[in-house]
Amino acid sequence: MEKRIFFRKAVSEDAELLYQWRNEEASRENAFDPSEIPWKKHLEWFKSKVNNPATYIFILNDAGGSPVGQVRFDIETAGTAVSHVIIDHKFRQKGYAVEGLMETCSFLLRESAVKQILAYIKKCNDISYRTFKKAGFTEIGQTIIKSNDSYIMRFEKVKAQD
Ligand SMILES: CC(C)(COP(=O)(O)OP(=O)(O)OC[C@H]1O[C@@H](n2cnc3c(N)ncnc32)[C@H](O)[C@@H]1OP(=O)(O)O)[C@@H](O)C(=O)NCCC(=O)NCCS
Repeated sequence: MEKRIFFRKAVSEDAELLYQWRNEEASRENAFDPSEIPWKKHLEWFKSKVNNPATYIFILNDAGGSPVGQVRFDIETAGTAVSHVIIDHKFRQKGYAVEGLMETCSFLLRESAVKQILAYIKKCNDISYRTFKKAGFTEIGQTIIKSNDSYIMRFEKVKAQD
């Protein structure tokens, strides 16, 4: 299959891009904190994350070099990262989230000490559930996050990658 998604590490100049994506309607609806984030608060958060060794933020570009979305991994405990994905609403339903997750998750497992990647998904967020499943995540349990019934999904290092 022809590669359609290319990723790079986020840099300081990406602050506004991430701000727009985070505050977009569907992103807020599906976030565990659905409030609109003010610019100043976002900037403080972004500065604390962009060069933080416990966070990986990747910008996904399409074949023409346009930024189409982001994947973020936060190291939760040693060997375990939690993943988040947002695709710009103009570029949805093209398979970019699935491809972007597959590419960045494989990279993280190959290039870091992370052994498993988790995703927490609200049960009402059927599109995300299907996206993560198609990207290779499996449902491993359920939990409640901020009063939201949620799925816990996991992407693991397969033997061939060891
Ligand atoms: C969830 C999200 C990342 C999916 O991105 P995407 O690039 O559109 O997804 P893909 O094109 O890779 O499609 C993945 C699956 O979702 C389905 N899908 C995507 N958008 C859909 C829509 N609006 N309605 C129905 N199905 C949809 C696709 O058809 C595909 O499933 P299928 O192969 O079984 O049909 C995107 O909708 C988004 O950014 N939402 C807001 C942020 C968010 O919810 N993030 C996840 C929080 S856990």
